[in-house]
Amino acid sequence: MDRFLVEGGHKLKGTVKISGSKNACLPILVASLLTDDKFVLHRVPNLRDVRTTLKILTALGKKVSYENGTVTICADGKLKNTLPYELVKQMRASFWVAGPLLARFKSAEIPLPGGCALGARPVDIHLKGFERLGATCKTERGNVILSAKELRPAKITLRFPSVGATQNLMMCAALIPGETVLENVAKEPEIDDVSAVLCEMGAEVFNDGKGRLIIRGKKQLHGTEHTVVADRIESGSYMLAAAAARGDVRVENCVPEHNSILLDLLQEAGVPLEIGVDFVHIKPYDSPLKPQRIKTAPYPGFATDLQAPWMTLMTLAGGASEVDEDIFENRFMHAPELVRMGAEILTEKSIARINGVKQLSGAHVMASDLRGGFALLMAGLCASGTTEIERVYHIDRGYENPEGKLNAIGAKITRYNPDKDDF
Ligand code: UD1
Repeated sequence: MDRFLVEGGHKLKGTVKISGSKNACLPILVASLLTDDKFVLHRVPNLRDVRTTLKILTALGKKVSYENGTVTICADGKLKNTLPYELVKQMRASFWVAGPLLARFKSAEIPLPGGCALGARPVDIHLKGFERLGATCKTERGNVILSAKELRPAKITLRFPSVGATQNLMMCAALIPGETVLENVAKEPEIDDVSAVLCEMGAEVFNDGKGRLIIRGKKQLHGTEHTVVADRIESGSYMLAAAAARGDVRVENCVPEHNSILLDLLQEAGVPLEIGVDFVHIKPYDSPLKPQRIKTAPYPGFATDLQAPWMTLMTLAGGASEVDEDIFENRFMHAPELVRMGAEILTEKSIARINGVKQLSGAHVMASDLRGGFALLMAGLCASGTTEIERVYHIDRGYENPEGKLNAIGAKITRYNPDKDDF
């Protein structure tokens, strides 16, 4: 398994270009199941989760090609409506195929995704929604079995604005003729990108911006060609890395508006920055960082996916800060690893209390999840000495070429595999 060796203390200066959004790509690729027509997606980042999604589409019977950031998906005979557990267990978002498959076949059998490192992560909101659309849902042999004589449009209020459930239900409703109304939906920018694709495919989707989506589904949808929105979690992560390392870094090809709360907080913490139409320039500073309190929340609140990189920044603040993780019950696995690097962090239930230190020190640490892995990489860039990060595959799930992008602005990160490389 690959590891990173990070030599800390190098000055970061230059430009980082942001890739297409992973969390938009995954549901959009899955939306290709709603049609047999050709479906083309541009700006697709080369990530493990994207490659897993392409394997899933192939397993379901699609013909897929991926070249220079463009995915082309065509029909290749009859589609299947079941998925092997091997693929689902690699990525929870595999469950998003349930909505399109149910809409097309009136039946689907998908392995129930288990819990993950972040917590139990049930799919009850997805299933309740499918039931409202006329399906019966039962679990047998670890699989969710969905079936319906006929699907019908409905008014559905989600008990929580789940991102995945919103996308799964939108995709299903897009292929059910008539008007479905989804209330208390997620407002993440990735939802807008999925809406745009469904509209390009022939459905009508209206978003009132207040958590209500009206979907006028059609009997048939057609193919499309679409370019994915910028990854706001990747852009936020590089802004935080630059701020923590006190670098001079322009994060380009992003949508700053999608990182508004983060940008406000960085400014409140004393990080000087310039915001452009499609870039944010993080500038160097000498004064101590002012500690801040944050609580994660659904968009437009502070993104849970930026909580771990934010924590790394706060380990270097001039005083006591607090993080309240309100979305996932178990998302502090990076904290003990940061403590191994000299950070002062105490966690209790959903709260982490951080006492800023002057300097982190390099250590041998382990990534246990995607964003927590990036938080350790950031810490390694700021620490004295060398940091060795195990289980880099977590970081590879969601960051395209992270060592390439960071080394291009002055970092010294080496990827190696102790089982293959001779050091
Ligand atoms: C998506 C993102 C993930 C991000 C998360 C929250 C993708 C591929 N992943 O995950 O990066 O961290 O949004 O912004 O887009 N829940 C239930 N029942 C359900 C569904 C969710 O209880 O049926 C709970 C979850 O356990 C969690 C919370 O709701 O505590 C938020 O989950 P959700 O918004 O669904 O996250 P995902 O779509 O899985």
